[in-house]
Amino acid sequence: MPLTPVLTSRWAADKPWTIDTYESLDGYTALPKALRSTPEELIELVKNSSLRGRGGAGFPTGMKWSFVPQGPDGPGAKPKYLVINADEGEPGTCRDLPLMMQDPHALIEGVIIASYAIRANFSAIYIRGEAIHAIRRVENAVREAYAKGYLGTNILGTGFDLDVVVHAGGGAYICGEETALLESLEGRRGQPRLKPPFPAVAGLYASPTVVNNVGTIASVPSIVLAGSDWYKELGPEKCPGTSIYSLSGRVNKPGQYEAPMGTTLRELIEMAGGIRDGHELKFWTPGGSSTPMFTAEHLDVPLDFDSVAAAGSMNGTSAIMIFDDSDSVVEATMKWIEFYAHESCGKCTPCREGNFWMVQILRRMVDGNATADEVDKLLDICDNIGGRSFCALADGAVACVMAAIKHFREEFIEVGTRNAPQGSATAVDPTS
Ligand code: NAI
Repeated sequence: MPLTPVLTSRWAADKPWTIDTYESLDGYTALPKALRSTPEELIELVKNSSLRGRGGAGFPTGMKWSFVPQGPDGPGAKPKYLVINADEGEPGTCRDLPLMMQDPHALIEGVIIASYAIRANFSAIYIRGEAIHAIRRVENAVREAYAKGYLGTNILGTGFDLDVVVHAGGGAYICGEETALLESLEGRRGQPRLKPPFPAVAGLYASPTVVNNVGTIASVPSIVLAGSDWYKELGPEKCPGTSIYSLSGRVNKPGQYEAPMGTTLRELIEMAGGIRDGHELKFWTPGGSSTPMFTAEHLDVPLDFDSVAAAGSMNGTSAIMIFDDSDSVVEATMKWIEFYAHESCGKCTPCREGNFWMVQILRRMVDGNATADEVDKLLDICDNIGGRSFCALADGAVACVMAAIKHFREEFIEVGTRNAPQGSATAVDPTS
């Protein structure tokens, strides 16, 4: 399948992260064009492009921008902010970090255009703390952009001012949840806030704030340059553009593959050199561990937000983790739930306690010491967590367990009870 690189088009260039290379490859040419438009025209352009958030939820980007009060700044008006969520932490997800490493100026140019569109004069790029290499790379790029007059006061002589700060996160998965991220940015412990109000209405310092993902914003300069019609032709009508699919696990060439939204796993596996020899696909995640797993039945599902939802999962972050017939679904599920239990911020009881309980049961299953009815106990716990927690973290954990049991109930019973005394059906207290 021919690739249509939008986000990765410069990755193979010589030192693509430098401003000189970026400028030599059309970089910063969308900016003057954008600054000649009005903010309203830019929001309309992005709405017309049908760009949807690449952070995982697929919310329409132009619509999110339009929620920010559009009146010009005046006495008493609250400042507006753009915050980039570069805390990429979903297991299996690896596309924002490579994008920032290879092409940080695409992100920065997008940040300037988006800030102008929502009338923000301050933007923060919140990068996960462990990714010190990406933090340094983006900080350098920000410095280069200031030196060339793309950031700071009176950008390109238009009277538009913008300051950009790179903020290193503390290394907690929950800080990728947008309201926990804002708490962390304000200097507090990263714990989610109740929504609504959504950040677009009351976000950073209770001011209107657009929180967008790296890939979403890095797509904006291309849309400004080439137009919304061009973008819409790159993928399905309601979910156009391209995605960077990160393929990991049992393929011969794991890595990042940019392809139009709606590409199928069958096509992606071909790009990634196939499943390793002598093995067969067993299960896979369409967009990180919090998106219900698929199996070989789903090889031809178009991987875009709507088609994946119609097939019973979520497109999420396009983080495709591939498992073959040598992998244990029970063990994989246990590892994921250990992760969620560890990363639960502890603010709400269903998530804090429920994930802990699930880990106890899953560990017993991996050891073969569970009882058959503990499969249903797991589902019962899921039922008591799902929809009852503060943010999407626990819902993600529940989705992963429920899908695993839906597709592999027999394996859970067989593996989970292999050492249990014959005929034993009594559940063990999950808290023990
Ligand atoms: P969400 O659906 O609640 O919100 C998505 C975005 O739309 C948010 O920015 C929200 O503020 C905005 N929004 C939604 N309804 C709105 C309204 N009525 N008014 C104004 N704004 C509105 O989803 P959430 O909880 O922000 O994200 C869940 C997704 O995050 C999952 O699909 C998962 O795949 C993904 N995720 C990504 C990770 C990563 O590393 N990139 C990590 C963990 C989860």
